[in-house]
Amino acid sequence: MSPQPTPPRAEGDPAIRPRHPSDPPQTPPEKAGEPLLRIRGLGVQFGGFHALTDVDFDAREGEVHFLIGPNGAGKTTLVDIITGLTKPTTGSVSFDGQQLVGHKEHRIVHFGVGRTFQAATVFEALTVGENLDLAASYRLGLRRLLRQPRGHADAVVEALEVTGLADEVDKSAGALAHGQKQWLEIGMLLAQGPRLLLLDEPVAGMSPDERTRTGELIRYLARGRTVLVVEHDMDFMRRFADRVTVLHEGRILRADATVAEVQADPTVQEVYIGRARDDRNSAGRSGAAAAGAPAASDDEEAA
Ligand SMILES: Nc1ncnc2c1ncn2[C@@H]1O[C@H](COP(=O)(O)OP(=O)(O)OP(=O)(O)O)[C@@H](O)[C@H]1O
Ligand SMILES: [Mg+2]
Repeated sequence: MSPQPTPPRAEGDPAIRPRHPSDPPQTPPEKAGEPLLRIRGLGVQFGGFHALTDVDFDAREGEVHFLIGPNGAGKTTLVDIITGLTKPTTGSVSFDGQQLVGHKEHRIVHFGVGRTFQAATVFEALTVGENLDLAASYRLGLRRLLRQPRGHADAVVEALEVTGLADEVDKSAGALAHGQKQWLEIGMLLAQGPRLLLLDEPVAGMSPDERTRTGELIRYLARGRTVLVVEHDMDFMRRFADRVTVLHEGRILRADATVAEVQADPTVQEVYIGRARDDRNSAGRSGAAAAGAPAASDDEEAA
């Protein structure tokens, strides 16, 4: 029998309780403060193919910013550039005033930028605690980590708590359920102490309940940090996004909008939401939920 995932602990923490449909919009004050992440004129070519062209993008502290767009839009490529995995052909990426382009991946982690990958990348043979200790060693340095008197660093304890994995600390990561592996990867990211977290499709393959728990975890992560979420799930975006940017064929279609603005934008509906509607229709489901005024989602029905 597959193990039952223990959800991240939201109880008693009003900041990470599930969002109710009657709650006021989560949008932070319009354009408050300087962006923590500022991308200008970004472009990248692979061979002759323009994967990204003229991308301008801002994200501010404390916000959950969703990056959406159809398959091949360039979302992962954008994350790859921010984190130093891919070098852009043109443009700049500034994080808290620091230029990231040209720096190696590990330097960018030290600047306070961390990511998860489209497929969870945990060390399956190590325990949950060991995975988190290893992640924390990025920030603390291995020597300091080994000199910890006993137990885990504070960042690891926090990561265990908020991901709901405290009871699994001695379990090997390979034995975790799918959702738990995703949470462990997010916990490893948290243990690195980043100020900007980039999550690439964090709820892919998750059950409605796991998606809700992940959304609550993301809201928690955004306190005092910035979270950029790449996601296809429109219901999930609607429930947990502060701001939304839409990419299409490597270009920005809609920048830094509210969920309502994105849902009301006919061009976005045409290229993205319309496509999701078609997908749903072909899967034998009603497409109405994907259009401008979505009906209650599976998640809400389950919540
Ligand atoms: N290293 C590479 N070499 C050549 N082409 C690439 C490379 N990386 C990405 N691409 C191409 O760039 C485009 C954007 O890819 P990317 O993975 O960023 O899309 P995405 O928006 O993340 O899509 P998905 O929703 O399917 O994950 C695609 O056409 C892809 O094939
Ligand atoms: Mg991708």
